[in-house]
Order: sequence, then C-alpha cells, then structure tokens
Amino acid sequence: MKKFLAILASTLMAVSLIGCGTDTSAGEPAATAEPEAPAAQEPAAAASTDNDLSSKKVGVCIYQFSDNFMTLFRTELENYLISLGFSKDNITIADGANDQATQTNQIQNFITDGVDVLIINPVNSSSASTITDMVVDAKIPLVYINREPDADEEARWQSENWDVTYVGCDARQSGTMQGQIIADLGLDAIDFNGNGAVDYIMIEGDPENVDAQYRTEFSVKALEDAGLKVNCLSDQVGNWDQTQGQQLVANALGQYANDVEVVFCNNDAMALGALQAINDAGRTVGKDIYLVGVDALTEVCEDVLAGTITGTVFNDHIAQSHSAADAAVNYLTGAGNDHYIGCDYVKVTKDNAQSILDSLG
Ligand code: BGC
Repeated sequence: MKKFLAILASTLMAVSLIGCGTDTSAGEPAATAEPEAPAAQEPAAAASTDNDLSSKKVGVCIYQFSDNFMTLFRTELENYLISLGFSKDNITIADGANDQATQTNQIQNFITDGVDVLIINPVNSSSASTITDMVVDAKIPLVYINREPDADEEARWQSENWDVTYVGCDARQSGTMQGQIIADLGLDAIDFNGNGAVDYIMIEGDPENVDAQYRTEFSVKALEDAGLKVNCLSDQVGNWDQTQGQQLVANALGQYANDVEVVFCNNDAMALGALQAINDAGRTVGKDIYLVGVDALTEVCEDVLAGTITGTVFNDHIAQSHSAADAAVNYLTGAGNDHYIGCDYVKVTKDNAQSILDSLG
C-alpha cells in the first residue's frame, strides 16, 4: 500500500511538473460565485459545554509555521478555540517544519499525552492513511484541515464510520476564479504582443498538495472556457514560497521578456514575490502585465486596491478555522460530523477588495 501511495504521489508530481501541458479533462469546476463579501459565520453551538471544554486537550499539527496563510489560520484557530471555552494551556500547536517524519512523531507524542481531539494539517496528504490509522487506533477524533486527503482515504472514514473529517475549500473553484479574473479583462487588454493568445507563466505550490494541482489546471481551463487561446511559456514549482516565487518569475521574465502577459501564482505569498520580480524587471501590473494569486492576504488586498496586483481569491481562513474548531467540539460532545465540511472561495478584484479587507479586521 505504501509503495502504491509513493508511486501515486510521484506520478501526480510528474503530471504537475509537465505543467504547460495541463490536462483539463478531469472533474468539473465548482460553482463560481461573483465577487461579494464573505458570509457571516454561524456562531458555535458550544456555549452550554464551556465547562467541559476547558478541561479538554487539543493537539494541532501545522505542516509548517513559516507559511503565511497557515499562520493566519492557526492564529484564528487558537483564538476561536479559546472563545469556545477551551483553555489556552490545553491547546498545543506543533510545527511540522515541512517534514512528515517530524510531524508523525508529534502526532505520536500527542497520542501518548492523551489529547482529546486532534486537528491536523498534514505535511504530505498522501500520508493521511497512516496518520488516520494511528489516531483512530488511539480512539481520538480527528479533523484534517487545508491539505485534503484523497478520495479513497475519505471513503474509508465513511465506510468505517470513524470520527474523522476534512475541513477545507474546493481548490478547483479558486483556480476557476483566477482564470475568470483574467478572462474578464478581455483579449484586447491582455494580448500585448498581438499573437492572439494569452501568454502566461504559472508558479505552482507544492505539487503534492491538491490545491496546487487544481489551481494550476482550473485557472487555465477558465481562460479556455471563456474562448481564449492560451500559451504557457513556463510552469515552475515555487512550493508556496515568496522567495522561490520571486526567483522563478525573475528567471521567466529574463527569458521571455515582454511576451509574458499574465503571471498566475497558486498563492499570494508567491504573488508577492512575483510582484517584486515584475517591478525589478521594470514592468507595470495593469499596464504591460497581469498578476493573480490566491488567499487574499492583507498586503495583497492592498495591492489589488492600488492596482499593483490584478486580483486574488479569498481563501477564507476564518470560516475554515471556525469550522474545524466547531467540528472538534461536535466530536467531543458526541454530536458528530459529516466527513467533508466545505467552504466557498471569493473572487477579489478592485471592486470588493476593500470589503474583504474590512472583513479581515
Ligand atoms: C494556501 C497556501 C498555503 C497552502 C498550505 C493553500 O490553501 O493557499 O497559501 O501555502 O494552502 O498548504
């Protein structure tokens, strides 16, 4: 089984690295909401269990603390858990340092410590079956966040009736929204070199993560669905990282110069790096190049308002962290959960960037 997963992971990686020849045949894009402010959150239904929750121990595993988006996520998660009645002293958050062996060790330690519930952002989603087996054997309920395990793994939770769920958004929707932000500009505005196609470069997150695979695939598919011809100049892996994003975009601009019309980044950290490279190359977003990311980091929303980044997609860390905490409470109170808890992305352009910023507080 392990061998099969390793082969599957390396196959996915190879498909992703092919990049410019992305296969857009698999799966349908999720519904594409128009720009709007995020929906108000449901209050947690835990008020009556406050006393019980204060003695419950929560173990949280984050794949890597230095990730900008996961920093927002874990901060909101901790604050919200405390607001539900958990004691700060009973919430332990571990940094997996982007190493699965380190994280597996941390999970083992949480089990030995007798935590009451685990919330896990896996380093490798392909390790989920091993993680689930460890945690279920210890009779601890488990909430996965952010990095979705594959369909076979989720089917097991259902068929075995285990207290295991996943909280996250459908990454196909975010990719589709990125593509739509560009397509909505119209070919005349995009086609600076006049070759009749959208010439783009793609900067991917960690290819083991389904968010990277789907955002890459569906951003391009949305352009094609809008009737635009596309031309991929370069498709590189930046591992969600700002510095890597900057270097990759600097290289691509050096190689393809004014032919680069659009820079797609699978997340905002890499878009911030891309913006630096674009500025260093003497190019101007909105005038001779376009740039889109995903997450709606505060800095990026400000750039979208200023026109220095074309758009982004709000990856609602507030809704996701609250749903994850609520799911943990539902396991602890015996209410239980569905095995998949979803959340919508929101397209962010100049039109609604201010309202998204306001909602981030
Ligand atoms: C976010 C990225 C983040 C990644 C971590 C994605 O959903 O958009 O910014 O690096 O999750 O797994």
